[in-house]
Amino acid sequence: MKQKVLVCRSLFPAAIERLAEYFEIDYHDRDVPLVPADLAARLADKDGAITLLSDRIDSQSLAGATKLKALCNVAVGYNNLDLAAISRAGVIATNTPGVLDETTADTAWALLLASARRIVSADKWVRARQWQGWQFHDPWLGNDVHHATLGILGMGRIGQAVARRAAGFSMRVIYHNRNPLPVADEQACNAAWVDKKTLLSEVDFLVLLLPYSPDNHHCIGRDELALMKPQACLINVARGGIVDDDALIEALQKRKIAGAALDVFENEPVLDPRFFALDNVVLTPHIGSSTRATRLAMAMLAADNLIDALHGRRPPNLLNPEVWDARQSITKESAP
Ligand code: GLV
Repeated sequence: MKQKVLVCRSLFPAAIERLAEYFEIDYHDRDVPLVPADLAARLADKDGAITLLSDRIDSQSLAGATKLKALCNVAVGYNNLDLAAISRAGVIATNTPGVLDETTADTAWALLLASARRIVSADKWVRARQWQGWQFHDPWLGNDVHHATLGILGMGRIGQAVARRAAGFSMRVIYHNRNPLPVADEQACNAAWVDKKTLLSEVDFLVLLLPYSPDNHHCIGRDELALMKPQACLINVARGGIVDDDALIEALQKRKIAGAALDVFENEPVLDPRFFALDNVVLTPHIGSSTRATRLAMAMLAADNLIDALHGRRPPNLLNPEVWDARQSITKESAP
């Protein structure tokens, strides 16, 4: 008999076909999240599930899921998963790192350039038939990207992909991580480690690429924004909650920094309405990994993780290896 899996949201047919070779699928074939009660009820008789970043998995959703062995998230970020609760329930969890690095780095650059050169506001102005003729002192004087200082907070794989692209703009690249990268990796992206205060005070463009955790909740707040230069611009393609949106709105209103470009927000998709009145912020709807090829690669990787996990093979992107190891030792002990 095939094992049963829940797919929490509409995916590409190729991923569903791959899963259907191995599993009986309960498919929520809509591009909206399951409500929590529905999610918990549908997990109750499942061996595994494919979750999306909008599915909150915690002790409540797992309460009745006694057969559940694996949850495979279609995202690199996994702050939607309460990993401690999932591990306590003996369930393994996986994510999809690697396949979205270059696409997300492209998004960060698209936002950086749009913000520096005020592309979105200029486009709106042209469409509003405001353009009367070329002006030397046009309202769209922006800031140079070339030869500026790019700062990256959170220098993982995506941060390094963002940094590598800066060579084409002859930029100086500095970054802050808890630990500096190995020298060879720093050299590959021509980036230098600095402390957080130096990073904030020297950047022209600050790209946030930290994973969200309670430890870095509001790690960019009033004090941090106050250290930035008035011509600096903040780009967030990581997660809402890393930035204190209230403090950022105030900094943008008072022009304490020049601009921001945000793909993620606290409480998304509900945005603080004050963002809409600002002309120095670019707003996009969490599209960092959103190309057809990359979203397909993410879905296929999550499917492969689930197929491995439910067939006794260690999945490549385990988030809680201790749960896997504990399960293997129980299997060995109970072998005849
Ligand atoms: C997208 O935000 C992801 O974490 O994959």
